Amino acid sequence: STLGASAAERGGRYFGAAIAAGRLGDSTYVSILNREFNSVTPENEMKWDATEPQRGNFTYTNANRIVNHALGQGMKIRGHALLWHAQQPGWAQGLSGSTLRDAAINHVTQVATYFRGKIHSWDVVNEAFADGGSGGRRDSNLQRTGNDWIEAAFRAARAADPGAKLCYNDYNTDGVNAKSTGIYNMVRDFKSRGVPIDCVGFQSHLGNSVSGDYQANLQRFADLGVDVQITELDVAQGSNQANVYATVTRACLAVSRCAGITVWGIRDSDSWRTGENPLLFDASGNKKAAYTSTLNALNGG
Ligand code: G3I
Repeated sequence: STLGASAAERGGRYFGAAIAAGRLGDSTYVSILNREFNSVTPENEMKWDATEPQRGNFTYTNANRIVNHALGQGMKIRGHALLWHAQQPGWAQGLSGSTLRDAAINHVTQVATYFRGKIHSWDVVNEAFADGGSGGRRDSNLQRTGNDWIEAAFRAARAADPGAKLCYNDYNTDGVNAKSTGIYNMVRDFKSRGVPIDCVGFQSHLGNSVSGDYQANLQRFADLGVDVQITELDVAQGSNQANVYATVTRACLAVSRCAGITVWGIRDSDSWRTGENPLLFDASGNKKAAYTSTLNALNGG
C-alpha cells in the first residue's frame, strides 16, 4: 500500500527519503513523507559544516527538527555524514596534520554522542575513495592526516554510540569496478582486524541504466559479513527510469543483508539534480510511473 509498509513486510526492511528541515513546513511534502516513508536521512543538516560551524561550537537546531519529526512518526534515522571531504566548515578546511585529525575525531565523538540512541545507521565516512581505475583513496585533507583516519573514525563512532550501525558510504559503486573493489578490500581488512564496521552504503545516483552486476556487487559485500544499504537512490528521468528503480529494488530484496533503500529526496522539485526529475513523485506530489514500479517490486512484482 505504501513504500514503507511494503518494505517492512519484506523482512523488516525500511524505505526512506532524504529530507530537508526547511521543507517540513510544506504540507504536501510532509503528507507524502509521513504516508510513504519509514526512514529519513537529513540531506545536509548533520554534515560537519552544519553541526560544528565554529570549532567546538556545536549546533543541532536543524538536525533536531528532522530527528524530532522522525521520532514522532516512528521512523528510523540514517545519520549522514560524520566525516567527508566536502561540506567541511571553513575552519576545518584550514587545518592539517594532527590538528585536523584531532578535530575530526572529536567531531565524530561529539556528534555521535549527542544523537546516541536515536540513529539507526551512521554514514561514518562518506566518499573517501577515488573515482577511476586506481581503486585507491581520494586525496583530501583528511586522507593526508594518514591512511588510518577511516578506522579511527569508526572506532570513535562505535565508542560514542554502540547501538548505531556504522556504515561506509560512496557513489559510483553500483557494480563490480575498481572503486567498489577498493572499498571491498578495505571492508575485508577492517573485518579481519576487528575494526568496527557494520554496513556499506551504495549511494546509487544512477543514469538511464544500472550495471548488470548491481545485485552481485551488493552480495559480495554482504558475504564479508556487513549489511548493505541503498542510501541515496535517484535515477535520471527517461524511458527506463521506472525499470531502473524496479531493478534496484529487486536487487535489494534478493540480498538478505540489504537492510533498506533511501531515495535522495521526495519530489522531483526537491532533488539536487535540478532538471533531471530523478525521483518518485512529481513536483505536484503525484506518484510517477517509477513510484508504481518500485511499489510493485517491493510487493514481489
Ligand atoms: O544553506 C545554504 C543557504 O544558506 C544558501 O543561501 C544557499 C546558496 O547556494 O546554499 C545553501 O547550501 C546548499 C545546501 O545544499 C543546502 O541547500 C549548498 O550551497 C549546496 O551545495 C548543498 O548541496 C548539497 C550537496 O550534497 C553538497 O555537496 C545537496 O543539497 C545534497 O543533496 C548533496 O548530497 C550529497 C550527499 O550528501 C553525498 N552524496 C552525494 C549527494 C549529492 O551531491
